[in-house]
Amino acid sequence: MGVIKAAITGINGWVPEYVLTNEELATMVDTSDEWITTRTGIKGRRILRGNGSGTSSLGVPAVKGLLEKTATDPLDVDMLICATVTPDMQFPATSNIISAKTGLKNAWSYDLNAACSSYIYALTTAAQFIETGKYKKIIVVGADKMSSIVDYTDRATCVIFGDAGTATLLEPTNDGVGIMDTILRTDGNGMAHLHQKAGGSVKPATHQTVDAKEHFIYQEGQAVFKFAVTNMADVSVEIMEKNNIKPEELAYLVPHQANLRIIEATARRMGIEKEQVMINIQRYGNTTSATIPLCLWEWEDKLKKGDNIILSAFGGGFTWGAVYLKWAYDSN
Ligand code: UT7
Repeated sequence: MGVIKAAITGINGWVPEYVLTNEELATMVDTSDEWITTRTGIKGRRILRGNGSGTSSLGVPAVKGLLEKTATDPLDVDMLICATVTPDMQFPATSNIISAKTGLKNAWSYDLNAACSSYIYALTTAAQFIETGKYKKIIVVGADKMSSIVDYTDRATCVIFGDAGTATLLEPTNDGVGIMDTILRTDGNGMAHLHQKAGGSVKPATHQTVDAKEHFIYQEGQAVFKFAVTNMADVSVEIMEKNNIKPEELAYLVPHQANLRIIEATARRMGIEKEQVMINIQRYGNTTSATIPLCLWEWEDKLKKGDNIILSAFGGGFTWGAVYLKWAYDSN
């Protein structure tokens, strides 16, 4: 029996039907398809509509689909971690709501918030539980209803974000595949540039906070852009070098989809070709905790057992990092 690694053994995504196009946004704020496309690469984003629907409404269908496609009995799932910055409510955790609605009666669950790096933080956390040998099946949900914290009168942020849900199954393996290495970083000083001002314990909701629009995303785009480009590229190159992966040996980089220019700069620094990068930002925008798994889900058919893959993210906090994994299965 070799060393136990945690492997992704199934992935699923779920996006709402409604597509908010650049053209429709141009009727809501002073923007244009041309500006959004050239500055961000985004053409459309999905929006979850309907009273009473929240992030769990994105996570539940993603988990149900995952259980079905991997023929997993919900009662066999040990644990669920929900990576999100837009929980259904302050408490209880959205993970608990998702677990209850998907029949995970034997799982314990909690939420994890590392802004746009939430998925790679959650994946790394889940991997530790698998590697101890104690847990056999863990689901990581990456889901965000970003439209719930976006100010649709602020052109600087409303064009960027979208809603999506994903679910990833992790299981133990000793087959030489799975999560090989992770590098995660945090710098709380980044808070100044990207945060949500009110609604937490420092500034609970009041009429004033609502009037001042302090429950929406506050982002200093250019400052965040500079940190994102440098740190996402640095950490991606670092994990490549640490694991002796040459550019031609990498099957795919799966970058957080915040801005096409950040993705392209990261790929350039890694010395890899466009074909080695998963990009779907044009269709979904920045779905925060869901971007990376949404890519893996869309590319699943093309992946082969043993493929070298690097996941890389940068987000509010600041948080950033990279995960190196060897894909664990052939889809076809
Ligand atoms: O995922 C979590 C981490 N977040 C990120 O990684 C986001 C990083 N930042 C970015 O992706 C970019 O900074 C943005 C996409 C947010 C903004 O792009 P930018 O190229 O940095 O634009 P900017 O903020 O420097 O604004 C340039 C101009 C400004 O006008 P003036 O002052 O030059 O007249 C803005 O007011 O573009 C204007 N502008 C817009 N114009 C049309 C800002 N938003 C828009 C818009 N449509 N939607």
